[in-house]
Parts: sequence; C-alpha cells; structure tokens
Amino acid sequence: MSEYIVNKSKFVFTGEINIPPDKSISHRAVFLSSFNKDMTKITNLLLSDDVKTTMYSLGAIGVMFAENNGKFFTRGTGIREYLPSPETIDCGNSGTTARLLTGLLAGQNFESVLDGDESLRKRPMDRVKTPLEEIGAEIYTTDGKFPVKIKGSKIKGGHIKLDSGSAQVKSAIIFAGLTGESELTIETKIKSRDHTEILLEYFTDNIIVEDNIIKITPNPIIKNDLIDIPNDPSSAAFFIVGSLLNEGSSIKLEKICLNPTRIKFIEILQEMGGDISYENISNISGEKVGDILVKHSNLKGIDISGEDIPLIIDEIPILSLAMSLAEGDSNILGATELRYKESDRINSIVSELSNLGADINQINDDIKIKGKQILNGGTCKSHFDHRIAMMLAIAATRCTNEVQILDSNCVSISFPNFFEIFEQFRKNI
Ligand code: S3P
Repeated sequence: MSEYIVNKSKFVFTGEINIPPDKSISHRAVFLSSFNKDMTKITNLLLSDDVKTTMYSLGAIGVMFAENNGKFFTRGTGIREYLPSPETIDCGNSGTTARLLTGLLAGQNFESVLDGDESLRKRPMDRVKTPLEEIGAEIYTTDGKFPVKIKGSKIKGGHIKLDSGSAQVKSAIIFAGLTGESELTIETKIKSRDHTEILLEYFTDNIIVEDNIIKITPNPIIKNDLIDIPNDPSSAAFFIVGSLLNEGSSIKLEKICLNPTRIKFIEILQEMGGDISYENISNISGEKVGDILVKHSNLKGIDISGEDIPLIIDEIPILSLAMSLAEGDSNILGATELRYKESDRINSIVSELSNLGADINQINDDIKIKGKQILNGGTCKSHFDHRIAMMLAIAATRCTNEVQILDSNCVSISFPNFFEIFEQFRKNI
C-alpha cells in the first residue's frame, strides 16, 4: 500500500514539462517490431509497467529485446513463427496487452493461455472473442473474462463489420488479419484511436485505409527498421488541466502526439475557455506531433456525449475535475465504456471527487457536475487506477485542506515519474 500526501500548498505550473512517451504507440511499436525477423530500433519507448508487460509477454513467445543508451532493439520472430509459451502469459494490469496479444495468438499454430491481475480479470474479453471467432479463431474465456485459452487456428479473410468503438478490439482484428490466409477488410462504425493503422502503414506494406474501411494483406513485408515515438497527450492532460486551474501557470509541453483521435479533450478544454495553443508541428513515424502551450484560464461548464466519448475515454477523469472547478454545470452523457477500464471509472471519479467536496453525481451512465470555486480535501482512493491517482493529485492543487491519496503508486502504469514532476511546482505557504 502506498500513499501520497499533498499538504496545503500553492501550485504554479511553469516552464517546460517533460511528458513521457505515448503508451498506446509504445505498445504498438513493440508488437509491430516483433513481426520483423531483422533488428528494429525503437527510440523514446515508454518504459512503464504496462509497456513492460507487452515486452515480457512477447518475450515469452520468442521475441528478443535489448537496450543500449535508452534505445531499444527488437529481434522478432516473424508473424507466423512465434514460439509457444511453456507457461501462462501474465498480462498484468494491461488491457492493451491482453486484447492485442489475443488477436496475434488467435492465428498461431499453438495453444496459449493468458491471465492478468485482479483488475484485468474483471474486464470484458467477449468484445474481442466474438469478432475474432467470426474470422475463424477459437477462444475460451472464463465467463467472458480472463483467464482465456486461445486454441490457435487458421484465420480467414473476407469482410468483417465492427460495431465496437474500442481501438483495442480493432487492433486485435488487424493483428489476427495479418496472420491470416487471405485479405481481410474491416469496416468500422465508430471512430477510435488509429495508431495501429498509422504505424502499420509506416512500418509495412500490408494495410490500406480508406475512410472507415481497413484492408489487411497477411504476412507483413517490413519497410522500416526505426520507430520513434511521440509523447503522450493523455499524460500531458494532467499538467494541461493543472495549469489551466492554477493562477500564474504557463507551460510548454514538447513533441506531443497530436493525432486527431487523441486531442478531442483539448478542443473541449478550449471550448470551456482554456488558453491552449500549438507550435512546431511535424511528423514522427507517421504521427502528427507538436508542442502544446497552456496558460491559466477561467473555465466554463460544457456538455459532452455520444461520439466524443471514445475520443476522450482516457481523459474523462481529468476533464471531470476541470468541470468540477468550472463556472456553471457540465454533463458527460452515455459514458458506459468507463465502467470497463482499470477501475469502474464512473464510480471512482464520482466517489473520489465527492470525497474532496465536488458537486458531482452519477445517474445511470451519465456524470452530472455543478462547478465550484474550490474543493475541500480529505482522504481518497486511487482504486488502483493510474488515471484516477493523477487526477486526484491535480485536484489537490485546488483544495483548501490536505489531500491523502491511497494506493498512489499505480501511476507507474503510464507515468512512472509523475509525482517527481508534480512536486517541482509546489510552492509551500
Ligand atoms: C487503448 C485504447 C483505449 C484506452 C486504453 C488504450 C489502446 O481502450 O482506454 O487506455 O491503446 O488501444 P479501448 O480501445 O478499449 O476503448
């Protein structure tokens, strides 16, 4: 058990803040590099617990990794030549590892068993099993969840329609398609983050994306041996909101991934009145990147619903805090997916922000917030969820009393040095 205490202090966020590499792209860089029998060099890889889990999991099926001076080198097996793991593969706390690996293993010629921690064992696997079985996979879950057994079978080509707005599910189908027998087209109904498509386009010749149709040709032909990773907008979100909420703040965050499927939360904060701008736009391994500038601003309430939810799925905890301290009312409608994250995030957001004195309620899968000037403070729990722990630390910067965050070291899932950076901006009073 770890606890982090923010005693009554003033926080002013200023200057350049180093944001860690993107978690979603790091997972994908590691997965894709395992398709390459030759060496792939990965720079700016996120070495957080979740990404290490992907590396250990691929290591268990024959992929080799080496590190030199902060750069990572992968020697893959090729997409059809992974080795059977003699043991159950432990996917830890990582939903991304669990879903993407299931897709990759579905088309191998051996059986695999995957398991994870208490939180991962509560998260749905049926959402990947059902579409994968449509294209020939054979997967046995435990009441729709982990542990799962993957038989290993021949993946068929053809056409599949995906109703899910989950990027993890889409990526699992893409990976299975790459192991398949013939071309697979995937038709998506809801837009979700598209890092798998972008990195696959950069790294191989086996994908064509046209609007909502993704065409996959099996057996990747590798055309690049270097993957560079931009920094994570979802991790940046905590310091962006911290700066908006605290007087005198003005920060610059460099080389952040500005993929349009990831920065909807910035558009929402701008609509709420946030002073956020971009500069130095460029491209890294197919992804749009740039620097983000943020200045303290007075925020107004806003309503969010429907199609926007998958595009802000990881930022709803910190957006809820911004709304709790904005002028007027805000509503987040139809956030059902939040129930299936590292914690039931509707519950954890509402219960912990209420603990600190926010006026926030849940009605079915909606979150209703009445903005206030200031929060009180008190003892709150992370629910072992990294994004809840970091949101609570930023909340503490606007509390009149001390805040104690229980089980805070889960920040290592995505942002291992979060508290070290956070501390630099504390001005004791
Ligand atoms: C992720 C996709 C999202 C997100 C998760 C990372 C990814 O999950 O919440 O943190 O890397 O594909 P879903 O795709 O299940 O919504």
